[in-house]
Amino acid sequence: MELAMVNDQIVPIEEARIYAHDRGLYFGDGVYEVIASCGGKLFALERHLQRLEYSLREMQMLSKVDMAQVRERVERAFEEAGIAEAKVYFHITRGRALRAHEYAEDWQPSFLLTVRELTRSQPATVPAITHPDWRWKRCDIKSLNLLANVLAKNAATQAGAAEAILVDEDGMVTEGTSTSVLMIQNRVLRTAPLRANILAGITRVLVLEWAGEFGLEVREESFGVSEVQQGDELFLTGTTTGVQGVSQLDGQPIAEGKAGTYTQQFRQRLDQAMNEG
Ligand code: PDD
Repeated sequence: MELAMVNDQIVPIEEARIYAHDRGLYFGDGVYEVIASCGGKLFALERHLQRLEYSLREMQMLSKVDMAQVRERVERAFEEAGIAEAKVYFHITRGRALRAHEYAEDWQPSFLLTVRELTRSQPATVPAITHPDWRWKRCDIKSLNLLANVLAKNAATQAGAAEAILVDEDGMVTEGTSTSVLMIQNRVLRTAPLRANILAGITRVLVLEWAGEFGLEVREESFGVSEVQQGDELFLTGTTTGVQGVSQLDGQPIAEGKAGTYTQQFRQRLDQAMNEG
C-alpha cells in the first residue's frame, strides 16, 4: 500500500500533513533522495545514503541528522508498504521556522517520505528536447530547489517529449531534468565529468562501471549539443527512468530513432543488477 511517513510516523499517503512554517516550503531549504526497489529489495541503498550524506554535509545540515535513523526510517516505511517495485522518495529540510533567510543555530530537521508504485517497464526510447540550463551553480547537491528542472521538464512535456536535456551557456550538455545524459561514438562512452554543475547520478556511475564489460572506453568529458547528431547513441539514466535511449532531439532523429545496441545492453545489465539486488 502506498504510504507516507512524516518525521517518525507512518500515515496513509493522502493523510500526510506537515506544519506550514517549514524552511522546505519557504526556501526549498533541504535535500532529497529517490530510491527504487525491485523484487522487494531496495536497490543501491548504500550509494543513495552516501550521496545524501554528501548533500547534507555541503548544506551544513549533517551535524543535525542521524544517518542511522534515516536508514531505519527508509527501511521501516518500505517494509510497511510491502510494494515490491517501489520508488521511495524522502527529503530532509532545515525544519520549522517563521520565514527568515538566515537559520537559527538550534534548528531541527523535518523528514518526509513517500513509498509509491514504480513503473519499471519504461519505453526503450523517448523523444527529448534541449533546454537552457537555468539552474544554480551547486547541482552536485541534491537540493529541493528544482524550479529550473520543473520549467524545463514542462517545456519537454508541452513539446511532446519525455525529457529536457539541459545545455549550458557554452553549448555543452550538462544533464537532464531528472536524468544523467550519455553518448556513444565509435565505442567511446562520453558523459559530463562530476563537477558542481551536475548530480553524481548513481545509475550513471553503474553504467560507467559496466562499460568495460561491453568493450567501451569511458571518457568523462563534456560534449556539445552540436556533437550529438554525429554520435551513434544518446541515452538517459536515472533511478526512476532506468536506461532509456533518446530517439530524437528537438525533432531530429538520433541514430534513425532506434534504441542503440549498447543502450539496450545497458538496459538489460541494469535489469540484471536490480533483479540480483
Ligand atoms: N532524479 N540528474 C538529476 C538532476 C537528477 O535529479 C537525477 C535523479 C539524476 C539521476 O540520478 P540517479 O541515477 O542517482 O537517480 C541525474 C531523481 C530520480 C528525481 O528527481 O526524481
